Amino acid sequence: MDASDVADDLDHVLYTKEQVAARLAEVATEIDRDYQGREVLLVGVLNGAIMVMADLSRAMKSHCTMDWMAISSYGSGTKSSGVVRILKDLTTDISGRDVLIVEDIVDTGLTLSYLVQNLRSRGPVSIEVMTMFRKPDAATTAVDVRYIGFDIPNEFVVGYGLDYAGQYRNLTDVGALSAHVYS
Ligand code: IMP
Repeated sequence: MDASDVADDLDHVLYTKEQVAARLAEVATEIDRDYQGREVLLVGVLNGAIMVMADLSRAMKSHCTMDWMAISSYGSGTKSSGVVRILKDLTTDISGRDVLIVEDIVDTGLTLSYLVQNLRSRGPVSIEVMTMFRKPDAATTAVDVRYIGFDIPNEFVVGYGLDYAGQYRNLTDVGALSAHVYS
């Protein structure tokens, strides 16, 4: 679905699928350059990062491997619960690996800081973060993010993997959800 299919639910569109794809291609080029001669392990954070993982990995020109983690941080609301729990762990041993965490969005930074700390304790050679979206004004926990698609305002957005109550992940564009949907 695209923004026209859910126009009543969106306050405004932030990025079209073409804008997302163009930015992702630039980020993939940076990653290819930075990891030249090394095979990076992309760790996608389920469920939100499914689209960015699929598109980022295919936009890269170099080999990579992929693994997934699922972490709970949000219920069906729009505010961080503050509770971080591993629901699905990696199947890969990351000791000695170059790890790049692939995230959909960094909001407060709580989830990511937990994840980085957790993965760092497993002995990777390097650990970096790529996120498609970041809300700088919402940050409560400082986390180093090496690759950022777009910095966005502090509003609740859906599409391109980002959901509200499980829906809108399959929206190809990215938009701010109208308050009437969640109020
Ligand atoms: P943080 O721990 O507050 O940084 O939250 C990170 C997680 O919250 C993301 O991986 C998303 O699953 C979810 N999240 C944060 N902001 C949004 C949003 O605007 N739309 C959809 N999900 C969001």
